[in-house]
Amino acid sequence: MSVTPTLEADVLRRQDPQLADILLGELDRQSTTLQLVAAENFTSPAVLAALGSPLANKYAEGYPGARYHGGCELVDAAERLAVERAKALFGAEHANVQSHSGSSAVLAAYAALLRPGDTVLALGLPYGGHLTHGSPANFSGRWFDFVGYGVDAETGLIDYDQVRTLARNHRPKALVCGSIAYPRHIDYAVFREIADEVGAYLIADAAHPMGLIAGGAAPSPVPYADVVCATTHKVLRGPRGGMILCGSDLAERVDRAVFPFTQGGAQMHTIAAKAVAFGEAATPAFAVYAHQVVANARTLAAHLAEEGLGVTTGGTDTHLITADTAPLGVDGRDARGRLAAAGVVLDCCALPHGDARGLRLGTAAVTTQGMGEEEMAWLAALLASVLRGGTESHKAREDVRELTGRFPPYPG
Ligand SMILES: Cc1ncc(COP(=O)(O)O)c(C=O)c1O
Repeated sequence: MSVTPTLEADVLRRQDPQLADILLGELDRQSTTLQLVAAENFTSPAVLAALGSPLANKYAEGYPGARYHGGCELVDAAERLAVERAKALFGAEHANVQSHSGSSAVLAAYAALLRPGDTVLALGLPYGGHLTHGSPANFSGRWFDFVGYGVDAETGLIDYDQVRTLARNHRPKALVCGSIAYPRHIDYAVFREIADEVGAYLIADAAHPMGLIAGGAAPSPVPYADVVCATTHKVLRGPRGGMILCGSDLAERVDRAVFPFTQGGAQMHTIAAKAVAFGEAATPAFAVYAHQVVANARTLAAHLAEEGLGVTTGGTDTHLITADTAPLGVDGRDARGRLAAAGVVLDCCALPHGDARGLRLGTAAVTTQGMGEEEMAWLAALLASVLRGGTESHKAREDVRELTGRFPPYPG
């Protein structure tokens, strides 16, 4: 199914050509450049259809069967479907699918379990912690007393001994595991053990690996964490949004922490789109996709290392790679700019050692487009050549256009 004709035929083109041009321009940008931003993906036309549906019109404060508004029978059915599918997909006793974003999900998890001023142990921001893991610019850093653990400067791996020592010394009320840039599987069993030793809650922020977990390509935190927060976009390939999983014992606290404590009316079109995405993620085809995402990332990481980039932790277990471009004589910010000019879109990130910035890239979107390991090898060579100055950006841009032309995200 094609997205372009849907947009072109849409009344928007006639009513508001200025905005229609922006939408189509963005579709063109996404289709003709390479999306290596690790947090992005291409949702299916079915997910987009749910997002653009009349459910966007409906007010539905509360939960199915207990709303503050009339006329909620059908949106109740959509939310029940999303909840049941999420529970089955992840093997959770309870699912809340109302969080507007990953950050809202984390806020609600804290609201359910903590009081302002409580101590929380989380991955420090310089090592890949998210803003909601204690940034002074975020509510988390303002309202809670965050202590940061780190990664080993040499290996880039989480230093579990340090986590244990910090937990013993600070006696946090909660431990948070999860990251925006950690390329390896997290050992949830070790975190559970440490949390139990000091009597802390364990909150897993699985925003990044949630799609891999759904497809059986990464270990699940559900059996270990008290609360699991996630985004539904990223590898999971649903609409932009959040979700929370927990045991039945915390269900009521989590639900109340989402609504009415931190949010108002649920976004029913997004919840319907989440239901569609969970349905897709339960298929054998999605498991194949999730494993291919990892195979592609491993191949890309290996070829980037061969090209001389400093790949953090020596590789990846997931969709995500972080790499130091300094060995090629260019810092992370310059590298991002040069690659953007070549049509390769990715992010900068902190590196475990020193203050230099590196690159963060992911394979979720290119894998959705159907690219495989052959294309990843080609991509690594192009990336390195652009960074070394061996390929002019306009030539690289043409090569990228040719590649993406063979792998359209929304084939017509
Ligand atoms: C670990 C982690 N937590 C939370 C979030 C926040 O998600 P959102 O941008 O939807 O608020 C992200 C987003 O990248 C993330 O990686």
